[in-house]
Amino acid sequence: MKSLITFYRFLGKYKWRMLLFLFVYFISIILETIRPYWLKGILDAIQNSQSHQIFIYFLLFGLSTVGTNFISTLAFYFADRVLIPLARHIRETVFQKVMELDFAYHVNKSTGSLISAFRRGDGAVFSLFHNIHFDLFSVFVSLLVTLFFLFKTSLDIGLSLLILAIVNGFLIWWLVKHNLQTRTDLNHAEDHVSGIIADSMINYETVKFFAGENKERRRLSAQFDDWTQKLWRFSNSFRLMDIAIGTTSGIAMLFMLWLAIQKLNHGFTLGDLVMVTGFITGFYYEFFRLFFRVRDIAKSITDLEKYFDILDQDTQVKDPLSPQTITNPQGYLSFKNLSFTYPKDKSKVIHDINLDIHQGEQVAFVGRSGAGKTTLVKLLLRFYDPIRGSITFDGVDIRQLSKSHLRSLMAVVPQEPIMFNNTIKFNLAYGRENASMADIRTAAADANILDFIEKLPKKWQTEVGERGIKLSGGQKQRLAIARALLVQPKVLIFDEATSNLDSASERKIQQALKNASKNRTVIIIAHRFSTIRNADKIVVLSNGSISEIGKHRELLQKGGLYKTLWTLQSKGKLIENESLTDR
Ligand SMILES: Nc1ncnc2c1ncn2[C@@H]1O[C@H](COP(=O)(O)OP(=O)(O)OP(=O)(O)O)[C@@H](O)[C@H]1O
Ligand SMILES: [Mg+2]
Repeated sequence: MKSLITFYRFLGKYKWRMLLFLFVYFISIILETIRPYWLKGILDAIQNSQSHQIFIYFLLFGLSTVGTNFISTLAFYFADRVLIPLARHIRETVFQKVMELDFAYHVNKSTGSLISAFRRGDGAVFSLFHNIHFDLFSVFVSLLVTLFFLFKTSLDIGLSLLILAIVNGFLIWWLVKHNLQTRTDLNHAEDHVSGIIADSMINYETVKFFAGENKERRRLSAQFDDWTQKLWRFSNSFRLMDIAIGTTSGIAMLFMLWLAIQKLNHGFTLGDLVMVTGFITGFYYEFFRLFFRVRDIAKSITDLEKYFDILDQDTQVKDPLSPQTITNPQGYLSFKNLSFTYPKDKSKVIHDINLDIHQGEQVAFVGRSGAGKTTLVKLLLRFYDPIRGSITFDGVDIRQLSKSHLRSLMAVVPQEPIMFNNTIKFNLAYGRENASMADIRTAAADANILDFIEKLPKKWQTEVGERGIKLSGGQKQRLAIARALLVQPKVLIFDEATSNLDSASERKIQQALKNASKNRTVIIIAHRFSTIRNADKIVVLSNGSISEIGKHRELLQKGGLYKTLWTLQSKGKLIENESLTDR
């Protein structure tokens, strides 16, 4: 029911257009339903040989028939003037909400399930609108019209229809509730199936590496067992409805017809009999329509529930009520007593970190895999908030800044850069839409990727494929560096990929980093120690805590963890040795 309220809140924006549509449609339903009454007029006039009356009723019958067609078409047009902008408005709102949701939400979501919830939700907006405002509304209005004429003609026939309407109303309500439950169960099963399909498709590379095609088919097949069972239960719930509604309506209709026949020659004219028959046979189908529509409404409401649930998702990392702005950013960062645990995870990933990174400094984070290096970057960007301690930017606690302002001060080259399935130019200019071609070229040149781009047959218009699959690891990284440089951030964060690059690519990236270091603070999370020899400060992390800080030479002399890691890497052992993993 909550989703229905949300639906009408969206619809409220178009209330005047909605009223216009309902009014026009109301007239068209009345014109359509009233026809048996004109027919009675014709028959009564024939019986009484009133040729003038015959003509009038015939004209009214004709006008009703033709008029309904025109007016209902007009009503459909007015409805579309509501529905089309409404569907777009809802879709954009939900999409925007998904984009704004926390990093943590996106980490836990399943894209496949989310897309199927989106698709079903979109469809439900259209069908719910139609089912309520065309079908339900039309049944309701024609029931009123029919009851009015039946009561006018005969109290017991009118009463019979009223009772039938009430009984069927309850019956439909009860049956639909059962149907709704089976539908929810089916949706869950369907989401799991879509989730597996999407997951298999995203991981196609791994599937191929391990010849896992059959394994994937079996994984899907197992999920389909549950899906099949739920679909049977859902389908069978309709059989029950068909039997129940069909039986009650059929018996009641026969009863009313029998009553009408009894009354013939006892106050009922032939015209009355034809009119009553016309009304009740018309209504027999209305009940079926009603039950099909209520069924569809129930289905749409369930579909909308999951869609609108997205709107109710809470953001954990909130913007402050009155955010501060750093007008002249310097790029001085300070971590104070910082501790952090991932949500729903007990173990502490960051332990009591205290660190100052001064403006223009080049600082490197090193440590074993899982030490918490990337996590520190996520905290710095406020993808998560720490459980204790704080981070300041130019002395201002980052929780006092709006997330968008904070993130505009920094740019990140992620550990595994991902590109949009679009052109090189689109990807490069993503952070600064109004960048001139000259700026874009400069950023590309500084990132050491300009030559590569210009040698491509389609140059800047080259499509990079889904997630950037058509680019090599090194090219993707340099493109990501260019993308970061283009926004001219005060702080540049480079989370080096763990994958090994050949020495030519590595040199290109190092050159790119050197170019990037002018006039800004640079944080490098290094896996290749050659990258950081000249860093102003090297921070060695171990199990989420700082174990050493110093320059390359100092740390080597000290003979601690840094020296161990460095020695291992120079012997080329870092990757193979599993015991080196912190977690
Ligand atoms: N979203 C998450 N939810 C729960 N735990 C996470 C999440 N992301 C990372 N972790 C855990 O936090 C720890 C630190 O991860 P992090 O990515 O910071 O390591 P890292 O130092 O960057 O490692 P690498 O050198 O391999 O990139 C790891 O144990 C990891 O499993
Ligand atoms: Mg990492």
